[in-house]
Amino acid sequence: GQAGLGLEIVSIINKLQDVFTTIGTNASIIDLPQICVLGSQSSGKSSVLENIVGRDFLPRGTGIVTRRPLVLQLINRPAPSAPNGAAAPAANGDSPTKSNNPINENEWGEFLHLPGKKFHDFNEIRNEIVRDTEAKTGRNAGISSLPINLRIFSPNVVTLTLVDLPGLTKVPVGDQPRDIEKQIREMLMKYISKPACIILAVTPGNQDLANSDGLKMAREVDPEGLRTVGVLTKIDLMDPGTDVVDILASRVIPLRLGYVPVVNRGQRDIETSKSISTALEAERQFFETHPSYKSKAQYCGTPFLAKRLNQILMHHIKATLPDIKARIAQQLQRYNAELQTLGGAMGDTSGGNVVLSVITEFTNEFRTVIDGNTNDLSLNE
Ligand code: GDP
Ligand code: NA
Ligand code: MG
Repeated sequence: GQAGLGLEIVSIINKLQDVFTTIGTNASIIDLPQICVLGSQSSGKSSVLENIVGRDFLPRGTGIVTRRPLVLQLINRPAPSAPNGAAAPAANGDSPTKSNNPINENEWGEFLHLPGKKFHDFNEIRNEIVRDTEAKTGRNAGISSLPINLRIFSPNVVTLTLVDLPGLTKVPVGDQPRDIEKQIREMLMKYISKPACIILAVTPGNQDLANSDGLKMAREVDPEGLRTVGVLTKIDLMDPGTDVVDILASRVIPLRLGYVPVVNRGQRDIETSKSISTALEAERQFFETHPSYKSKAQYCGTPFLAKRLNQILMHHIKATLPDIKARIAQQLQRYNAELQTLGGAMGDTSGGNVVLSVITEFTNEFRTVIDGNTNDLSLNE
């Protein structure tokens, strides 16, 4: 089906990304599409990402919690069907006897810095993010541009690569350098200036959109708004009688790809470990019953945001595939030439070049998908 095709392409892109990270080749060979969150500190960026994933695993809260980029690859893996009619394990079960983060054998995370270790307990994933963040940045609010790479395999996610980023901030705290604002801006710029980056510009609904640091910065790198989606958080905290309907109707700051309003868990929900499924249900109810939103509830909330993102990503990948393909071919040619030189010296090239064989393998796999779908993807140069 169509969704299958999309998932296949993204999974190959993810593999390529891993290969290039692992072999340490200049990653800019391929500008892989990914989705980044951008916004001021505590606007709800990590909460939005966590809701899209549908599992509790990101450090969230007031103050600067996200202090290193987290490159998060979600990989959709259908669960094997249960034998003998036994019920498949619930994805986000809410049984009061279960923990808030139920273990599911079909869902796990793996960190690039801990190869081969599968984390089925998502609380442990969060602990590892906190541990590795502190290991590289200290405990006192320091930041680092060194990313954490995490892959999550699950039957319950849309295949996407997401990047959680530290928020824009102005005043240094703790061990932060005096030019913290500049440092964070530069770190964020590295991600959002890539033409292949889709920007989720996160702004709390209860703040003036015209003052949104995230939107402002997104406009610097994407003035046409071709790859920026507006996300309006904290809709539940807006004063009674106010809403974001004018923003949604493009009457405030129009964005070509539009805005999606969401309701994430509040600080108190974090403290009382409110489960994500309970929160998503509350979000659905909020929009379906709110007088301002109930007529357009299907365009509100986290599920719509996830759907919208997948659409945008698929479009984006289709548009960038010819370019990626050309660059891989170029790279291959270069390696081939290099290999021939080596072959002249060594007399045998069969087992010589790990880089070449790795790239060849993935290029072949990549071509199978591309060539099998040339009509659909209009890849004819
Ligand atoms: P980040 O710094 O942008 O990553 O923001 P976090 O996701 O860490 O959230 C910052 C704080 O805002 C936390 O206390 C969240 O619980 C709270 N928060 C985020 N989104 C919402 C929302 O939609 N509604 C409410 N009530 N609180 C939210
Ligand atoms: Na925060
Ligand atoms: Mg955060």
